Amino acid sequence: MVIKVTDEYIALLNKAVAREIQVSAQYMLQHTKMEKLLRKVIKENYLLETTTYEEFGKLLKELAIQEMKHLGAIMERIYILGGEATTKPSKITIGNTMKEFAKLDLKAEEEALAMYREIIEAAKAIGDRETWQLFMKIYSDEEEHLLKFQDYNEMESEPDLAETPESEWRSIFNNKEYIALLNKALASEISAIVQYTTQHEKADGLERLRKKKAPLEVATGKNKAGVISGILKKTFLQEMEHMEMISERIYEIDREAVADINPVPEIGNNEDDFIKLDREAENYAIVLYRKVIDEATKLGDIKTKKMFEDIIQQEEEHYWAFDDFLP
Ligand SMILES: [Fe+2]
Ligand SMILES: [Fe+2]
Ligand SMILES: [Fe+2]
Ligand SMILES: [Fe+2]
Repeated sequence: MVIKVTDEYIALLNKAVAREIQVSAQYMLQHTKMEKLLRKVIKENYLLETTTYEEFGKLLKELAIQEMKHLGAIMERIYILGGEATTKPSKITIGNTMKEFAKLDLKAEEEALAMYREIIEAAKAIGDRETWQLFMKIYSDEEEHLLKFQDYNEMESEPDLAETPESEWRSIFNNKEYIALLNKALASEISAIVQYTTQHEKADGLERLRKKKAPLEVATGKNKAGVISGILKKTFLQEMEHMEMISERIYEIDREAVADINPVPEIGNNEDDFIKLDREAENYAIVLYRKVIDEATKLGDIKTKKMFEDIIQQEEEHYWAFDDFLP
């Protein structure tokens, strides 16, 4: 590496990683919560409010995906610079109303812009043009995000959304352990997303750095890291869908999603480590989701049961995909 990379420099880039993990999870969870808010809007405002809720809800999902892309690009850069990316997000706060979402997200974008100005300066100072260029691009994205949140932040406050009265069938959702179990499933999806994204970027970094030896590697430019990187990408996109489904369900039954990352993501040093750790993560999910299905069946929560039956099938496919590559 021609440029001189210090630990402080990597730490600074990791602050950006923490921020990007935070906002992508935050916006995604707000997106899923929006549907619940939408259904609770008072009737006389229905038409008008519906549009705002829908538009903002759509925007949140779009931005969550964009933040994921930022996250990936920054992580890859860290690995190319010889550093290690963090998997710990800055504090995720969801909020309770549309206006609160806008306020929290505006604050996150403001803080990101300040931090990224600092990174742009630091990159310039050591002549790290690639990082400089990357953050110039991300900076202009974040500024666009900020402007969008500013609009929503200035709108009038929405009416208070009162709880609707209980009914007999709904009482099953008063079971605290059950809701905690659903949130444990959500936390494991977020953990898998972070783990696989990080490994995907690390594998890409490794692939680019490593000298290719075998003739096929030289000819195709592909090696094991490259192949596994592709599998990881496909897999984490599915985990994103799972995350969305589970949090949507938690809000649908009128409970709160908790933005936790559990178990702690484990990255590993090379593709063989990745595969072992990911197979273990899928094993964890399958065992946990079987428990969710059991509890849902006992309580008579048919919709959740069916949803987890679908999800668990995909987790099993992930498991076998990793199992096939076991060293
Ligand atoms: Fe971002
Ligand atoms: Fe942003
Ligand atoms: Fe999943
Ligand atoms: Fe999975």
